[in-house]
Amino acid sequence: MEKVMTQKNKTIEFGVDYYPDQWDRSLWDSDFARIKEMGAGTVRMMEFAWAIIEPREGIFDFTLFDDAIALAAKHGLKVILGTPTATIPVWLHDLDPSIMQTHPSGGRRAFGIRRQPCSNAPVFLEAVDRIVEAVAKHYASHQSIEGWQVDNEIGHEGSDRCVCAHCRKQWSLWLGKKYSTLQSLNETWGTVFWSTTYSSFDEIPLPVKDMHLLQNPGLMLDYMRFMSDSATGFAARQVAILRKNLPSHVWISTNLYAPPTGTVIDLEEMLKTMDFPGFDNYPVWGDMEEPIPYYFNSYVLAYIRGLKDTGNFSVFEQISGFQGHACLGYMPSEKEMIKFTHQAVALGADRIIYFRWRTAASGQEQLCYGILDTDSQDNDRLAAITENISDRSAEYNRFAALPFKADACVVYDRDNSRIVKNQYLSKGINIPISIFAEAGYDLEMARSFAPFTLFGINADVKSVQSLDLSRYKIISLPLYQIADPVFVRCLEKWVRAGGTLILGWRSGSRDMKNHNIAKILPGEFSELAGIHVRKFESLNSKKTKIRIGLIPAKGEVWADIVEPVTAKVIARYSDAKKHYKGSAAITVNSVGKGKVWYLGTSPDPVGIFFLYRKIFRMSDVRAKFLGMGLEVVRRKSVEGKDIFVAVNHTAKTKRFKGKRIKAYDFRVIG
Ligand code: GAL
Repeated sequence: MEKVMTQKNKTIEFGVDYYPDQWDRSLWDSDFARIKEMGAGTVRMMEFAWAIIEPREGIFDFTLFDDAIALAAKHGLKVILGTPTATIPVWLHDLDPSIMQTHPSGGRRAFGIRRQPCSNAPVFLEAVDRIVEAVAKHYASHQSIEGWQVDNEIGHEGSDRCVCAHCRKQWSLWLGKKYSTLQSLNETWGTVFWSTTYSSFDEIPLPVKDMHLLQNPGLMLDYMRFMSDSATGFAARQVAILRKNLPSHVWISTNLYAPPTGTVIDLEEMLKTMDFPGFDNYPVWGDMEEPIPYYFNSYVLAYIRGLKDTGNFSVFEQISGFQGHACLGYMPSEKEMIKFTHQAVALGADRIIYFRWRTAASGQEQLCYGILDTDSQDNDRLAAITENISDRSAEYNRFAALPFKADACVVYDRDNSRIVKNQYLSKGINIPISIFAEAGYDLEMARSFAPFTLFGINADVKSVQSLDLSRYKIISLPLYQIADPVFVRCLEKWVRAGGTLILGWRSGSRDMKNHNIAKILPGEFSELAGIHVRKFESLNSKKTKIRIGLIPAKGEVWADIVEPVTAKVIARYSDAKKHYKGSAAITVNSVGKGKVWYLGTSPDPVGIFFLYRKIFRMSDVRAKFLGMGLEVVRRKSVEGKDIFVAVNHTAKTKRFKGKRIKAYDFRVIG
């Protein structure tokens, strides 16, 4: 297993998502031939096909997939199989309707959509075990199957939260295990407030969304941890069955979705039993009127890459057309669509599977446009992908297997991402992008990541728990409210030895029990940052003027009124309308050979440019502002030489190191 876990694909693998169950058999042969002709070597299938494989309880029929896989193999295509547990057959629902999730908003999930059953429902789990074991056994020795995807987008579409009777039962047990005594639970949650002291684990409710008041924050945090354990347990259970049955060279992964911290699930934990991260890369989707900014997508891709130390990841669904379920939006040109591939490969993808071969003719994904339209004719999308694979693979292969060494790391913390889902502090980071996903924490993370992309510095994204400080020169740690004193001491040692630490507003404001800290802010960081914070204001959607030296910029989201103790002031509030005009907003403290920056507010784009230019100049990283739209990633060749991969995200030619990079193109330099 270890061998697989550390192995990178030496050459980029291309494929398509192909659903033989959705097309007449008469199309398969020419489809596979054309997929091969396109230059792809892999097809991914089966992730929604439970009802086909097990049409009645315990009765299996593999004919369709046997035939499709055999034909794919005949065309020289390898196959990735998805365990088909993201949609259930109707007989399973009818067997025990209580397996369907109940959302905290009160809605009971109905049959006919996807990701509906609860991962704590015994009848569902038994059925999952049975189907996974059956498919694993049946396909274990098939030579063409290179790997498995567990389920599909676990936790997506609100399925990371459930408050059904099965959850309620497991919740009491989970709490009992975590807090051996109720006294400890009551104290940790602060249940003395509002008469909520509990005297038995069975009394404790699951959080149901009320009209407008919040549940106890301690309960909410534990609820999200509990939901995370349910989901990671669900995935681990499938992995165990697959591992038991499959040969050791067959890899296992899963396809995650963005935004990465929008889910309550600890994705790092979920991937522990798998070989490498997998991702569904849709920089534009549904009713979006334009793609997310390229530097935000870089953050997302870096996050995915950082979920394991494999250094690489797979894209199981890469946008090929344009997509939506109910509404469509921005249509990228073929060049721009291909550019999304360049970016994913530059940032660590070594397998790109395009979603999907052909637009669905009917069903819930009728608006998910694939490479081909339903007329099956050759078209511009097919031509663009074919040309890219044939003409550019050699260039991708020059760098795809080379290590990505980062000087900087943006660090997140799962619990800290969870607490802002309820107590979001500022409307500036309350960004519900759908009824089930909040992107506020991610956007703040992405804001901290953007300067590295804009200044051409390789950066990783890691969690506090998996971070190896010794690898980096700069650490950016936004929204780290619950601060672990042990981690703070490690940071201090690292700073003293020369590290540059960038802290965000509200750092250290909570202790490990999620209580407001009984210390002056920024709590554990006060000495390290050389400041005190006694006053602050939530800016919500307003901005406030600041001056970085003489340069006017704006602060967004939050305003800590920073009192320097040993730190030097870098920026001050300059808004005449604010009673705290003139006080410090951003400071830097020298500690040993290193520096600690404290950002009491989130700088706007102008602020980001001038502030980070200063930060990078005062650290020992090589930084060069690349201008908007150019992204440059550095890889190290075997001889230790720098290889630059420059991606042009714009419709105009750009230059890097004297070389031209055409619109939406990339170039390997060095
Ligand atoms: C993904 C999903 C696919 C398909 C696609 C549509 O979220 O995994 O099954 O629904 O979106 O764009």
